[in-house]
Amino acid sequence: GAALATAALVAAGSLVAPNAASAAPGNPGAPRFSPGAPSIGDPYFPDQGNGGYDVQHYDLNFSYDPATRFMNATATITALATQDLDQFNLDFRGPEISSLTVNGKKTDFTRDGQELVVTPRPKPKTGQTFTVVVKYAGVPGPVTDPDGSIEGWIPTDDGAFVVGEPQGTPAWLPSNDTPTDKATFRFTAKVPEGLTAVGNGQLLSQQTKDGWTTFVWDNTEPMATYLATITIGKFQVTESVLPSGIPSYVAIDPRLVTGSANAVSQIPKMMEFFTEKFGPYPFASTGAIIDYAPQVGYALETQTKPIFSNTASVGTMAHEIAHQWYGNSVSPERWKDIWLNEGFATYGQWMYTEFNGGATVNATFNSSSNYGRAASSSFWQVLLADPGPMDMFSNIPYNRGAMTLHALRGKVGEDAFSRILRQWAAIHQYSHAATADFISLAERESGQDLTAFFDVWLFQKGKPTSW
Ligand code: ARG
Ligand code: ZN
Repeated sequence: GAALATAALVAAGSLVAPNAASAAPGNPGAPRFSPGAPSIGDPYFPDQGNGGYDVQHYDLNFSYDPATRFMNATATITALATQDLDQFNLDFRGPEISSLTVNGKKTDFTRDGQELVVTPRPKPKTGQTFTVVVKYAGVPGPVTDPDGSIEGWIPTDDGAFVVGEPQGTPAWLPSNDTPTDKATFRFTAKVPEGLTAVGNGQLLSQQTKDGWTTFVWDNTEPMATYLATITIGKFQVTESVLPSGIPSYVAIDPRLVTGSANAVSQIPKMMEFFTEKFGPYPFASTGAIIDYAPQVGYALETQTKPIFSNTASVGTMAHEIAHQWYGNSVSPERWKDIWLNEGFATYGQWMYTEFNGGATVNATFNSSSNYGRAASSSFWQVLLADPGPMDMFSNIPYNRGAMTLHALRGKVGEDAFSRILRQWAAIHQYSHAATADFISLAERESGQDLTAFFDVWLFQKGKPTSW
């Protein structure tokens, strides 16, 4: 909130931006310390993200006992200062902190809502790397979203279902919770013997001692905080290597194995199909987590290992695998850009369905859940370019988003469309991008002025009738 007010005043010219470090006259190299911004200013989640630094790596070492739901954790965060910092914030809604150090020195901090405010001494200067170690213990829990759905740390009957889109990760990890600050991750999770902890990336080791098993997971490519998971439960695990050489780790709740078998068996075929359409798979491993958590009711494209809260279907599996390119490698700059995630993943799902012998993309576009909806339907009354936090996971970003891509394909032709899909993944790999970036790419690759096209599909409500 404070950051937004300041930004507005700066824009109005009535304040000097606190972070604009101009050199003092006569002392050009002098450090100019100021607090990092407490938010990155996304109006959907005004407290999310922080300024003044860029996280390089998160290392979380913890134990969790599902019987008591108690977590005991040490988070080590390595960050690069992007300004001379006399204070910075992390996003954290987790249990009580027992100690916090910066570069090994015990450091003062305060907590207010999801803001963890840190005052490091000595103060990091621009370009310096600093390390924050936070020790905390207690019972982490879920976060409720504007649309009523839950995320964060969700206890299950045999462990915890861990998801974070769009704001759940600070429930269990002090972090810079914005898709615009990606980092690598390592999880060391100690759980009672017989349970499995499944994280993003590759399993480095698994060791059992004195009734506890410790799993070490290494996520080696940059990842947005909302895509992190370290889900715990009773799982049947299948490890394999795809024909392409990419290792796969699939963990399934024994209750969901039979129902999910068809979807799981098609992961290699999906990976191959999307690689051909979208370009090289961006990560070092693949897989899935299928965990019984019916109170969640949705699936999520957690990086390298999509997670399902109930039996996985072929369509949803294709959707979550497609997200690895669109959403995970290329992430939205602001949450209003969510159609760049959901529209693309849904379109990937339509493409895979056709490839797999089901309905053609064209038939899906025209169906009664899509363009076949009456012009009077409330479906058409949400703005795709800015659906709002209540509708960010409604069918608007998914279905109108995928329809927009299909309409674009018709407008620019097969060759340009396929270049646009591949370029979008290539240019913004491991980074983030906004709707305006997509429009310029589409215009560049097609050689067309697409102003009117995007205007009716993205920036106007109502059912498009000509484009
Ligand atoms: N991105 C997910 C998917 O389409 C949905 C996440 C929904 N999150 C939520 N908090 N409701 O697969
Ligand atoms: Zn999705």
